[in-house]
Amino acid sequence: MEKLDILLVSENEGVTNQILNSLERDEVSITVIRSEDVSREVNRQMRHIVIFVHSDNEYVVEHIQYVKNISSQSLVIYLSQETDISTLRNITRAGAEEFFILPDELSLFISRMPTIIKNYQIKIQSEQNETMIFGKSNGSIYSFYSGKGGSGKSLLASTFAQTVKLESVAEVILIDFDIQYGGIETIMSIDSNRSLLDLKPVIQELNESHIRNVSQTEQYSNLEVLISPRDAEATDYLDDQFISRLLRTCRRSFDLCVIDLPSQINSLVATALEESDYIYYVLSPETPSLKVLKHYEELCERLGINLESNMEIIINQVSKANELKIKDLKELMRFPVVATIRKDYKGLQSFINKGEPIRKKQKEKLIPFARDVRKFSRAVLK
Ligand SMILES: Nc1ncnc2c1ncn2[C@@H]1O[C@H](COP(=O)(O)OP(=O)(O)OP(=O)(O)O)[C@@H](O)[C@H]1O
Ligand SMILES: [Mg+2]
Repeated sequence: MEKLDILLVSENEGVTNQILNSLERDEVSITVIRSEDVSREVNRQMRHIVIFVHSDNEYVVEHIQYVKNISSQSLVIYLSQETDISTLRNITRAGAEEFFILPDELSLFISRMPTIIKNYQIKIQSEQNETMIFGKSNGSIYSFYSGKGGSGKSLLASTFAQTVKLESVAEVILIDFDIQYGGIETIMSIDSNRSLLDLKPVIQELNESHIRNVSQTEQYSNLEVLISPRDAEATDYLDDQFISRLLRTCRRSFDLCVIDLPSQINSLVATALEESDYIYYVLSPETPSLKVLKHYEELCERLGINLESNMEIIINQVSKANELKIKDLKELMRFPVVATIRKDYKGLQSFINKGEPIRKKQKEKLIPFARDVRKFSRAVLK
């Protein structure tokens, strides 16, 4: 039988521990999160069972609807502290399959859990036997960001996307969210007057074919690329909802969505960061860059963007001449360093000047920069 993925949304430590202690770990894997992380976690991965433990959070009905919208086959269980019938009705209407009243019914819930799990396993087993065509599971969003301009975000995002596309069977889309200046079209020599702004009229019913109509297929890697409108005024037409809808549709249609972000933070960038599963902060090994990183952390805290779980550092332009050594940098930062990329002025120069993609074939002679990006990409694919 398939191991089930359970998401436990709970701020109640006592109840959490009792549930954790009661579950057989070889049958299920369980992740405990707080209610503010529901949308991110549900987007990140399809969960078989989502258990909400009552909190004072007024958004629980919206959260349940959200879970059901994203993956209708998830089983939602609500452990309520209220017996108010209209609340329970709203919960059921939102899509919760079962509810139990705390604290009286906690032991009843725990004793029923093995049956609920078994029934769910049987259900997915029989569905698998019936149809061999599956919807694609949700893809992941990888954002490249830095508070400092010119740190290598666009170059790294595009080379990462090319590498993954060339070296795996994954469907990959690269999106340039530098709405004002763009950059990806130059790096990849894409000459097109279609940009992500063309999706605006269809954003309410956006689907994969709308996106593929507007995106360009990069000729060597067959990577899909959504370029930027390169128009400062375009930010007036695009809002947070546009960014969210675009990313959620991309997530359903592609395995990897790679996003190149501008350095300045506005509400569009904040939304993209919030929708991201992985944020790769590109950092140069020098003191001014560290200061900008600190500033960015403070800003995110003020904006309520939680970086703890998904931000990782890529140190770019590493050379012997660097003022700060990698080892010291690692000690100075609270985020993990996932890659170090060498400074490769010589190797990159001709690609950048000619606007040639850095990766063309799966097997080819690689410049040091491309080799380092490949190492990082392989680690991500694993
Ligand atoms: N590892 C590296 N070795 C040598 N040069 C590099 C490296 N990474 C980036 N560069 C140089 O930095 C320049 C800027 O890179 P890129 O355009 O990717 O930065 P960016 O962070 O996207 O900038 P912006 O903030 O303007 O969007 C590149 O054109 C390249 O010359
Ligand atoms: Mg850029």
